[in-house]
Parts: sequence; structure tokens; C-alpha cells
Amino acid sequence: MCGIVGILGRGPVADRLIDSLKRLEYRGYDSAGIGTLKGNHIELRRAEGKLRNLETRVRCHPLSGHVGIGHTRWATHGKPTEHNAHPHATDNVAVVHNGIIENFRELRAELKQHGACFASETDTEVVAHLIDSYLKNGCSPQDAVKASLPRLVGAFALAILFKGQHDLMIGARKGSPLAIGHGEGEMYLGSDAIALAPLTDLITYLEDGDWAVLNRNFAVVYDTQGTVARREVVKSATSSVLVDKANYRHFMAKEIHEQPEVIGQTLAHYVDIANESVALPQELPFNFNEIGHISITACGTAGYAGHIAKYWFERLARLPVELDVASEFRYREAPMRKGDLAVFISQSGETADTLAALRYAKSQGLHTLSIVNVQSSTIARESGTVLQTLAGPEIGVASTKAFTCQLVVLAALAVAAGKARGELSESDEIDLVRALIEIPRLVTAALASEPQIEKLARDIAKSRDVLYLGRGTSFPLALEGALKLKEISYIHAAGYAAGELKHGPIALVDESVPVIVIAPCDRLFEKTISNMQEVAARGGKIILITDASGAAEVSKDALATIVLPKMGTTFTPIVYAIPVQLLAYHTASLMGTDVDQPRNLAKSVTVE
Ligand code: AGP
Repeated sequence: MCGIVGILGRGPVADRLIDSLKRLEYRGYDSAGIGTLKGNHIELRRAEGKLRNLETRVRCHPLSGHVGIGHTRWATHGKPTEHNAHPHATDNVAVVHNGIIENFRELRAELKQHGACFASETDTEVVAHLIDSYLKNGCSPQDAVKASLPRLVGAFALAILFKGQHDLMIGARKGSPLAIGHGEGEMYLGSDAIALAPLTDLITYLEDGDWAVLNRNFAVVYDTQGTVARREVVKSATSSVLVDKANYRHFMAKEIHEQPEVIGQTLAHYVDIANESVALPQELPFNFNEIGHISITACGTAGYAGHIAKYWFERLARLPVELDVASEFRYREAPMRKGDLAVFISQSGETADTLAALRYAKSQGLHTLSIVNVQSSTIARESGTVLQTLAGPEIGVASTKAFTCQLVVLAALAVAAGKARGELSESDEIDLVRALIEIPRLVTAALASEPQIEKLARDIAKSRDVLYLGRGTSFPLALEGALKLKEISYIHAAGYAAGELKHGPIALVDESVPVIVIAPCDRLFEKTISNMQEVAARGGKIILITDASGAAEVSKDALATIVLPKMGTTFTPIVYAIPVQLLAYHTASLMGTDVDQPRNLAKSVTVE
């Protein structure tokens, strides 16, 4: 899951390549590199670590050339060092790659036998040497690529340059996304429309198996059979403005604070506020009455949004929901009933496992509905129905505002399902919609707990392990809290259903372990509190998150109580997510970790 870009320009391209890479850093930031054609040879600049290191290098050693490719890397094969950074090149050809070449060992051995010398540990370098071997055998660049592609097993998006070919660039995709950008007398390749936004808004999305031969004035796309394929040029609505942090220290802080606004925007898209009813932006191509079962599939935080929605669909619409981690969904050969509904949730809309699960569900004859934040993404383009979250660009690797907006869309959808199936009356719908309309205000009130949370974070920052407990919809929120904390602070954290603690994890509890108990005053409150007391009896340091009545009842057993506004019980996770996010944020920020780009992670996970 790397970001790639290519420019066939009319002037120098190095700075523009770097600018595009800034928009692709969400795909990985282990290393970065660019390569251009200079005279009769290929020149590279590469640097380990963040893009700013490459920028410094290019500033000290500028790179001329009107045609070039660039890459930002999330390491899969080989350490994130400079010599493993892309582009990978021979004397004749340079390649940037997103994906994994699964048969690289065999190809490497074969190419070595024929004299190829490898300079990196990457799978990508075999692509450069493979194409090079065909070029050396007298093939044209186009024929060399055509001969090489069928030999690559795995997933790839490639942008390829050739020595001495100043008006040629070739791109190819299988599994990983790739788009062509059409400029005025210029042509571009990019992992997505976001990378190309400052260059053009005219985009051709390549389909799986496509490869394309570009020069400055036109692009010819071929399908897997090598036949010329007609692919539409569409106008992208992606903004070219690079989002900034405003006055915040980190994007994550900014995104946490944007939630009242973006939740409000998303809500306004899914409910008719004046009539207090759910109003989906489009008619659904299926009838909830004919659906026997919903399967929800996603990864990470998006998966926890799905887990919360399972409670809503089952309770409000009496629709059974099966939940899957996307990387498992298509491999477990679950029986599926044609005509049932498969829901996919993804901020980026590019997560490889979620995309593969979507394609699998389609092949099984299921209706597919995706909840995505990036409208131009592959998942959005390939889904039967798309419901967009209006969270705006989420830059911090830790998902915050996308999560709460996903919950808003899922809540509206569950109410719509309940209504359609006759499980909810009109007055139930009004009550639920009123509860949803209240949420932006409640989220603003929850944000007021920040100074208290900042102080609590000092304690958490000294811990080795942290536990999160909750029941009902607070259980998946506990899982989300633990994920949030560990991904940005690197402190080990685990979330549990509060009732499950005594079946093993309670053994972890001692005076050094903070236990975050998420306990809104709902019908499970007393039960959660009993579990909390079991922890207190063993010396655990409890941080209780509840409302004023909950606090009045039990806060004496807690080290600290974060008091949230009183609210109806159904949609509490959307509001209770706020202290959970803030706790992770302030802990990591105190510890001085790279909050927005934590180690080993990427915003968009485009490999299996
Ligand atoms: C969340 O904080 C994560 N960084 C991660 O779990 C993320 O939610 C997951 O990779 C799914 O991404 P998506 O929503 O873009 O599909």
C-alpha cells in the first residue's frame, strides 16, 4: 500500500511529483523517491523516512527532466531503507509499484541466472529487471511490458519510464488502483484522483487488468486480452486544496474537534430534520422486507462501527447481522443467500481486504451497500449502493471523525430498515430521529471534558497495559478505544465485553493497570458496574465514563469519572467515542509519538 504518481510534463516535473506525493503520504511514509529522464539516462532521488527527507535531498541535489515517476512507500518486502525505496531501475527502465508481487522469488532467481544484479530486497525490483530482459531481447517498451505483465502474480499498480523515451509512460493495474489524469498537452498517472487533483480533474479510472500507454497527447488503454479498451474520462470533484492543521498541533486533534460539524452535515444528508424522519439520499435498490440477513464487513475502526451497527439492526429492525473482519470474509466460505444484503464500511474506500470482500459478495449475488468517506474511491465505484459519510478529508492515521460519521449513517440506515420492516412505528422513528438530531450538541458537550482527560492522560502515559470495558454497544466502543490507544501511543491495550472479564482477562488487573469503563446509564448499566466493582476489588485503577446519574450512583469506586451529558440510550457510542478518542490522543501527544503518522501504519491499507 504505497502511493504512486507519474507525470509526462511540458516542463520540469520534480516539484510537482513531490507535491502529488504529499497527497499520497496517507498510503505509507516509510520512504519516498522520484525518478526522471535526464538526457539519455534515468536519474533517481530517494530517501528513507518521511517525504520531507526526500524534499531536502531534492533541494540539495535538484532533478531536472520533463517526465518522471514518484513513490511513497509502506514497506512490505525489505526494510524501509533508501536502497529499498522506489523507483527501482535498471539502465533502461524505472518502475514504481503499489502492491505485492507474490512470485518475486522465482522471477528473481530466473533473472539472476540470466545475469541481472539486484540492488534491493524488494519484490518490485523484479518488475524492472523483467521488463529490462525483454527490452534487451529487442522488444519495444510496449511489447516488453505486454510480455511482462502476465508473468506477475499478485497485486500491482505500476508506473514505468524508459530510457530515451521522453514522450512515453506505461501504467498497469491488477488489484491495486491506478488512474490516468488528462492535462493540456500533459498526461499523468496516479494511485487516485487525490494525487492528481492539483494537476487535473479529468480522470480515467483503469479497470482491473488494464494497462495503458501514455504520451503527452493521448492515452491508449488495453484490457487483459491486449485489446484496446474504451474507458470513460470523468470529471473528479476531488479538491486540490491541501488540508492543513489550522491551529491544532495534530490533524487528529483537529479532526476530533470537527465532529460536531461533520456529524451535523452527515445527519442532514440522511434525516429530514423538519419532519423528524429518516430520509436516505437515494432509493435503495432492494426491499428490507425481502432481506433475511445482513452481513457487515470492514477493517479496524470501520469494523467496530459495523459491530455497533449490528446491535442497532438487530434491535431496531429485527434483522440478523453477521459481522466479519474483511480479511476473513471471503475465505471462510460462509453460506450466503442470494438477494441478502452485504454492507461494507470504509473511510478510504481503498482498503484491499474490504474491496476484495465486496467483490466476493457481488459474485455471490448479494446486494452490496457501502458506507465510504472518499466518494471517488474504488469501493464507492464498485458498490451497488453508496452512502457517503460527509466527514471531509481525514488525514490522521487514527480514524476519529470518519468513525462517528459512519455510525450516523448506520444509525439512519437501521432506523430506515426498522421502519420498512414494520418494526418501528412512526412515533418510534420520530423519537429516534430526535435523538440523532441532538447528537452534534451532545458531542460538543462531550468535548468539554478535554481538560480533565488531558490530566488523566498523564497517568495512562505511564502504564504498560490498559483495559477497556463495556457492555452492549459500549463493548465495540471498548474495542475501538483500545485500538485507538495502542495505534498512536504504542501502549498495549485491550477491549473486552465487561461480562467476559472474569473468564480470563481479570488476571491482568492490579494497581498498575488503568481500566476504562464505558458505562452510559442504559439498561445494562448495573451489570457493567458490577463488573467494574470486580475490578475495583482487585485494585484496578478505574476511569469511569458515564453521565451525571451514573456518576452519582457509583463514582466512589472510580479513580476518576468523566461525566458526559445525559442522552437517550440507543446512540450513546457516537457521543461516548469522544472521551475515548481524546484519551488516546492526549496520551500519545504527551508521550511525544508521531500522532498523525504512527510507526508501521498507513492511512489506507491497499495490500492484503
Ligand atoms: C483506525 O484508527 C485505523 N487506522 C484503521 O483501523 C482503519 O480504520 C482501517 O484500516 C480501515 O480503513 P478504511 O476505513 O479506510 O477501510
